[in-house]
Amino acid sequence: MTLRTLDDLGDVADTRVFVRVDYNVPLDGGKVADDSRIQASLPTLRELLSAGASLVLASHLGRPKGKVDEGARMAPVAERLAELIGGAVGYEPTDVVVDDSVERRCAELRPGEIVMLENLRFDPGEEANDRGFAERLARLGEAYVDDAFGAVHRTHASVAALPSLFLEQGRPAAAGRLLQREVEALSKLLGEPARPYVAVLGGAKVSDKLSTVEALVGRVDALLIGGAMAFTFIAAQGGEIGKSVVEPDRFDEVLAARKRADERGIVIQLPEDAVAAPEPTLDAPRTTVPASRIPRELMGLDIGPRTVEEFAMTIAEAKTILWNGPMGVFELEPFSAGTRGVATAIAGSSAYSVAGGGDSLLAVKRFGLGEGFDHLSTGGGASLEFLEGRELPGVKVLEDEG
Ligand code: 3PG
Repeated sequence: MTLRTLDDLGDVADTRVFVRVDYNVPLDGGKVADDSRIQASLPTLRELLSAGASLVLASHLGRPKGKVDEGARMAPVAERLAELIGGAVGYEPTDVVVDDSVERRCAELRPGEIVMLENLRFDPGEEANDRGFAERLARLGEAYVDDAFGAVHRTHASVAALPSLFLEQGRPAAAGRLLQREVEALSKLLGEPARPYVAVLGGAKVSDKLSTVEALVGRVDALLIGGAMAFTFIAAQGGEIGKSVVEPDRFDEVLAARKRADERGIVIQLPEDAVAAPEPTLDAPRTTVPASRIPRELMGLDIGPRTVEEFAMTIAEAKTILWNGPMGVFELEPFSAGTRGVATAIAGSSAYSVAGGGDSLLAVKRFGLGEGFDHLSTGGGASLEFLEGRELPGVKVLEDEG
């Protein structure tokens, strides 16, 4: 099965193209704090514009849950896009995503012009994958392009019902260059990846990553687990973790995953040591302790130096590496060495390496290690679900079965 791409879209001169983008970006004081996702969409937008199309851009921002949320309007995003693309981006704050007047504005677009719709999630129809909402959106464009890799795991109207509708009506629908690149890069980790295949998982909550752990146990050769999620594994095995973040209701599941890994001969490497402190603050006194003997009054906030060394040894032997989730509270300098150490080891390896998830990408950027990775995925949840081998609705619908 192949993904329909811009190459299959046909001639888009004088065509209004509805482009679903993922501009779910962090904001700070009403400004875009990290424009990576906007930058990542530019090749598609530029390619369509230079082929003579006009663009209707649509994205979600945050989780406003079907209601207007003043803090989640697309205004800062439209402003940043205009700066990056060096041209006007028509945006008017509206309380409905699509009505007659929005339709009129889109109909008046001339080649080379861009309109950005209001936050798709202001309409409850978006998350409900409502066909009626998709029908209203479908009136805004003559062709459909999905470049919102970060959202393709959601069965939402702009990602699922809308492209189906275009295809049903015999209208062109395809993946943009970003979605195409993500699928190509991540597909290398499915099927027959070069081995050893090592996955490094981190982050705060094991509950967010359990399905990933379960799926990866059947795919990788070694799973390195850091971040606070490691403490649920350590505590489930009877370790003392002090005040560290833990999810006792997940003990059974992590033990089952561990057992399955053992049966298959897959190594799950947990931290040997941890940097611990009474609280996650810049000036808290720190100490390095065994990760399974953390004193009662302390919490583990980073993996320790010995763990970094051991993880780095496994990483050095890998031929394929996936990294998702920080090893500690890397936003605070005193607890950033673990994440920096692991990221540096991956960036320095000759393996095919992929990082995904907002925090990992932020860390890669902060440590200036981007060059060392083969692919930095713009999707968090989407990249994990893809690598778990799950079917993603936004990708599935654009696959050409012929
Ligand atoms: C993301 O930021 O991972 C995507 O934009 C999806 O957002 P969501 O998790 O709110 O659906």
